Amino acid sequence: MAGNNNKSPHANRQFATKLIHFGAEIDPRTGASSVPIYQASTFHQFSLDEPQEYNYSRWGNPTRQALEDYIALLEGGTHGFAFASGMAAISAAFMLLSAGDHVICTEDVYGGTYRLLNSIMTRMNIETTFVDMTDLDQLKAAHKPNTKVVYLETPSNPTLKITNIAQVTAWAKKQGLLTILDNTFMTPYHQRPIEFGVDIVLHSATKFLGGHSDVTAGLAVVADDTLGNQLMQVQNVLGTILGVYDCWLLMRGMKTLQTRMEAHEISARRLADWLSSHPFVDKVYYPGLPNHPGREIHEKQSKGYGAVVSFDVGSEERAKQVLGKVQIPLVAVSLGAVESILSYPALMSHAAMPREVRLERGITDGLVRYSVGLENIDDIIEDLDQALRD
Ligand SMILES: Cc1ncc(COP(=O)(O)O)c(C=O)c1O
Repeated sequence: MAGNNNKSPHANRQFATKLIHFGAEIDPRTGASSVPIYQASTFHQFSLDEPQEYNYSRWGNPTRQALEDYIALLEGGTHGFAFASGMAAISAAFMLLSAGDHVICTEDVYGGTYRLLNSIMTRMNIETTFVDMTDLDQLKAAHKPNTKVVYLETPSNPTLKITNIAQVTAWAKKQGLLTILDNTFMTPYHQRPIEFGVDIVLHSATKFLGGHSDVTAGLAVVADDTLGNQLMQVQNVLGTILGVYDCWLLMRGMKTLQTRMEAHEISARRLADWLSSHPFVDKVYYPGLPNHPGREIHEKQSKGYGAVVSFDVGSEERAKQVLGKVQIPLVAVSLGAVESILSYPALMSHAAMPREVRLERGITDGLVRYSVGLENIDDIIEDLDQALRD
């Protein structure tokens, strides 16, 4: 299990320094400048009477441990856990529940999480009520005697609604509920939910943390030792761990997180502004826009607005035209990479959601989501302009 990073000498440093000097950046045995890849499934037991730090890689592996300590340090937690995907991390967190428990979840949650809660968890007799988490009254009204978890995503996907994290966690704590937040869109550079009282922070590290569309991974962080022990047991028993090579790749990507996020955001702001006055765009969703209803709350809990801009081009026909004509972004399911990625939630991430539910949540047939990459922003705009026009 991850070491206690609050005690780490690195804990007081600035974020950019922590990204480079996270504790395992120099191999103590050889001085090597990157974490060694311990490609081993098991470890020789030197003495049967004395316990060793590592004995079997599903339980723990030094390469994975370095990554787990790294993310715990960045999120301001004490215990980190690395999983085979974002969904594996999310599933592990829900495995802390028991049959008969109830979850309150933000309604515009990632499609995979929606499917997990709405199909697999229901078979285990764990029910979920989906609410507009920006409305505290809806959250309170959904509370039942068997509620155990409040699950948040802010900004939400794909309409970038903002939930007041501190307000939700303060209420949840009074009711004795566990709070879980998917921090994929913001990353610990922009938003550190543990500082606002969240119990478990989750990531699809496949996105900004990895940053290069070349690794599928999930991470979880907690600040509480008891919760850490429970999650460690789930991770070990489910066995949905991240392989060591992917751990190494992820750490390699994470070192440039701040630089990438800063550059992504500068371009995303430009794109959102430009789209706001485009004749073929009906609506733009981006927390950095002055007319975004959640902007003030977002600014209190986050250091930036992120790289994802969603916009409505009015119809499925025009959305398909844009997806077909763009030349710079990947047209794909994903986000958070060095290359721009354009996706169409209605037929991609939210395809499993019934159309009426999807429309109720503002995920219209004309909505597209642009994850702004590191290309030159003038080129991105010029490309999108030609794709939008007839
Ligand atoms: C916000 C969010 N959470 C979780 C996931 C799931 O992560 P993964 O695809 O790594 O399993 C995704 C994937 O798109 C996501 O966007």
